[in-house]
Amino acid sequence: MFIKFAGTGSYLPPKVVDNFEISRMVDTSDEWIQTRTGVVTRHIAEKDTVASMAAKAGRIALEDAGMRPEEIDMVIVSTVSAEQVLPCVACEVQKELGLVNASALDINSACSGFITGYQMVAGQMKAGMIKNALLIGSESLSNGVDWSDRSTCILFGDGAGAAVLRMECPPEELEVTCIMHADGSKGHHLTCSVGHGKHKVPFDEYYRMNGREIFKFAVKKVPEVIGEVLEKQGVSVEEIDYFVLHQANKRIIEGIARRLGQTEEKFPMNVMRNGNISSACIPMLLDEMSREGKIKPREKLVLAGFGAGLTWGGFYTEW
Ligand code: COA
Repeated sequence: MFIKFAGTGSYLPPKVVDNFEISRMVDTSDEWIQTRTGVVTRHIAEKDTVASMAAKAGRIALEDAGMRPEEIDMVIVSTVSAEQVLPCVACEVQKELGLVNASALDINSACSGFITGYQMVAGQMKAGMIKNALLIGSESLSNGVDWSDRSTCILFGDGAGAAVLRMECPPEELEVTCIMHADGSKGHHLTCSVGHGKHKVPFDEYYRMNGREIFKFAVKKVPEVIGEVLEKQGVSVEEIDYFVLHQANKRIIEGIARRLGQTEEKFPMNVMRNGNISSACIPMLLDEMSREGKIKPREKLVLAGFGAGLTWGGFYTEW
């Protein structure tokens, strides 16, 4: 039996910024952005913080699961954009939602964060240490965007997605097929530093990215790891109903679909409306699909993420 996605939730801050507005800030155009990335609009947090968005998405996921706050054993928040280092965002969520029995921690494996979080939850469940977890991706990437850099400011957005994960069988019967990878030697392709520390040279508070390298990395490594996941699970690529991927760029997703030899209908997308919201993308897309009734019980899914670190990975599940 697989870990049950008992409930999902998401939150988008109300302010919407379209490509025309961006083209008044930097030398770009709606046509260029749409053609190269697929992005049309993104949401930008004004009053919201990473913690407030995480709590809002988390509350909706709990309600969707029909669970009480005290039933949650662990809350993990994946983020790279929190306004504060201490206390961690997960503790803020724990306080806000009254998760009185939950341990709480933040993780950072960038846009792979939801997959990493799932792997951590799965490990704890297999070890018999927890039964119910709240896993959240929450990002306010607009905090670290250089609005004068046209190669990055067009891509990112803000928001949060959450899932309540529940173990509904004894730990030894739990099926987990999740594979994560990292390559720190290519970490310099996507960077951002924070404002303290003695040895940070050079300091740059903004996201800096070698877009071409990240693009090539994603289109090569994501199909590879999906192949590894499928082989380990003993399922063919044709049997998969949906590939729920990190929403970095429409062209990256199309490239991955081509390499896997699958039709684009199997690759749902919301990057057009939301832009890239790092670790929030996958749970937000899952929530959207679930609420629209797009995913049916027992359908076969592969979820995969990739991003800074560099990190990438995926897992198989049945809905
Ligand atoms: N508007 C207009 N022109 C732009 C532009 C913009 N917003 N951004 C870059 N350009 C220009 C470049 O300056 C370059 O001009 P030049 O040929 O005169 O030097 C030209 O467009 C091509 O640049 P390039 O970087 O090769 O474009 P691209 O097709 O690779 O698209 C990205 C750039 C950033 C959209 C693309 O590389 C990408 O999406 N990469 C992955 C990024 C990502 O997903 N990051 C997060 C990972 S989790």
